[in-house]
Amino acid sequence: MTKIKTIGILTSGGDAPGMNAAIRAVTRAAKFNGFRVMAIYRGYRGLIDDEIVEFTNKSVSNIIQLGGTILKTARSDEFLSQEGRQKAYETIRKHEIDALVVIGGDGSLSGARQFAVEHDFPIIGLPGTIDNDLYGTDTTIGYDTALNTIMECVDKIRDTASSHERLFFIEVMGREAGFLALNSAIASGAEAAIIPEHATQFDQLAEFISRGFRKSKNSSIVLVAESKETGGALGLAERVKVEFPEYDVRVSILGHLQRGGSPTAHDRILASRMGFAAIEALLDDQRNVMIGIRDDEIVYVPFSKAVKIKKPIDDKLVETLRVLST
Ligand code: F6P
Repeated sequence: MTKIKTIGILTSGGDAPGMNAAIRAVTRAAKFNGFRVMAIYRGYRGLIDDEIVEFTNKSVSNIIQLGGTILKTARSDEFLSQEGRQKAYETIRKHEIDALVVIGGDGSLSGARQFAVEHDFPIIGLPGTIDNDLYGTDTTIGYDTALNTIMECVDKIRDTASSHERLFFIEVMGREAGFLALNSAIASGAEAAIIPEHATQFDQLAEFISRGFRKSKNSSIVLVAESKETGGALGLAERVKVEFPEYDVRVSILGHLQRGGSPTAHDRILASRMGFAAIEALLDDQRNVMIGIRDDEIVYVPFSKAVKIKKPIDDKLVETLRVLST
């Protein structure tokens, strides 16, 4: 393997709180080990367009507490083509970058995997997404902050839901995964979570209604994961109006506020550990792995597993919500 002297770093896909803490950790750990650090702006698009600046330790001062990503981010259509990836490779050669650290979610790490194979190039991935949908890691950078943000919003909505004795469907992000919906439902004492993982298994709305909340409670909060399969919060509310008109139903779609804000201590520590581990992985001759965390231990997860295997929902959590919301 070529001796690594210069490391490129980029953030890609949806931003997530804690990405800056990860950028800081990768940069500082790399500098500590004598590497040059080249910061690539705007994800893969910046790699194609040669938007690259050398970073020092000072470049990452005072950012650990910031949400978003100082490197900016993008979803690059051009990188999906072989020509786009070839252009990206030429930029890498021009700057003599020997390895990349990519911080992003499912799409970003799939891109990293393809690029690494096509150009026989070492890449280490860090799971940066609020969705928590990457296989092989218990949590992803940004997930805990988003959960806390959702919980605070639900607490506020409950005040009005209970005053008006209404049924609220609160839609949260997650792409096609229900981790945010399920765990924020538990954290906020909600009555149910409607998640894409169960969309084809049973009618989640009918099951929730059949539990007869009207008998014991004067308001209900249901967390709904965004999803084409379930119709999202608006689709469910439409169904309720027709099928269960006795409910006074309202919808709240939390949207992009879930992605913002200062990262929690959990996300800052996770990002710092993972960023440090990314450099250790390169020193250890690892390539094409995502850094994960399992049972509080850092693990290396091959890209092929991280992006190809569907991360399962924990049935015990589903049962916990069901029992505690009775
Ligand atoms: O993957 C992160 C995420 O926030 C998803 O939860 C959501 O579906 C998507 O990104 C939204 O993307 P955009 O900001 O491009 O609309």
